[in-house]
Amino acid sequence: MTKVFNKISDWQKEREKIGTNKTLGFVPTMGALHEGHFSLMEKSVKENDFTIVSIYVNPTQFNNKEDYENYPDTFEDDLGALEKLNADYCFFPSYEEMYRDNYKYKVSESELSNKLCGAHRTGHFDGVLTIVMKLLNIVNADKAYFGEKDYQQYLLIKGMAEAFFMRTEIIPLPTIRSEEGLALSSRNKRLTEDELVKALEFPKLLKSELNDDQIKEELSSKGFVVDYVESIENRRFGAVHLGKVRLIDNVKI
Ligand code: PAJ
Repeated sequence: MTKVFNKISDWQKEREKIGTNKTLGFVPTMGALHEGHFSLMEKSVKENDFTIVSIYVNPTQFNNKEDYENYPDTFEDDLGALEKLNADYCFFPSYEEMYRDNYKYKVSESELSNKLCGAHRTGHFDGVLTIVMKLLNIVNADKAYFGEKDYQQYLLIKGMAEAFFMRTEIIPLPTIRSEEGLALSSRNKRLTEDELVKALEFPKLLKSELNDDQIKEELSSKGFVVDYVESIENRRFGAVHLGKVRLIDNVKI
């Protein structure tokens, strides 16, 4: 039975009971769970004595109000999935619980956070780093698991954990895709059937032999609105808008 905690103080009492002889794994999420999230949870359950999954749609990381308001909410199904995967705990807090300071304090990074998604989503990574710092401090896990689907996010969180001497080990896991190659995302639930078919072109082009500019042109000609396609070291990153949905992906090249 997955035990749900809404209050930080209640969770902290439970955390004390777990103690330091048993290991705790942590998977932070914004809910609307899919196979990508499940892969992180499975790994955590396998590698640790206990696993906690947080479900919190963090308003400070949304630069677009409509995107926040339309973020899918499937809490009952999510909880069913946690039970099935044998996650021991679910942390499901409110805004008031997480932002007692009303976001007066925030965590910023000054280089990587301004590139790629950061250049197109003002304040996004401040919101991500701040909530992840809060969550990591509250949960006090041995290991926390993040998807390479959000590779820039993973790098920034790993850097933050190192910069602030945080005790939790940050572990990346590979991107889970549909059979046709589309990276799974909670936002895919908002794509129409036609858009879902068109979306397959995005990962295909990112993996292609074309250069970044050629890929941008191809995507635009197919009706995507391109935020960026950029290769950094051996990875190609991309973000596009399709209808009302923003898709991101990255592939090794
Ligand atoms: P969310 O988008 O719900 O993702 C939660 C975790 O699942 C992230 O680490 C993300 O990279 C991973 N994930 C999502 N889709 C995946 C896929 N197809 N394959 C593998 N992993 C995948 O990322 C966030 O929430 C938030 O920014 C959060 C870190 C919870 C802070 O609010």
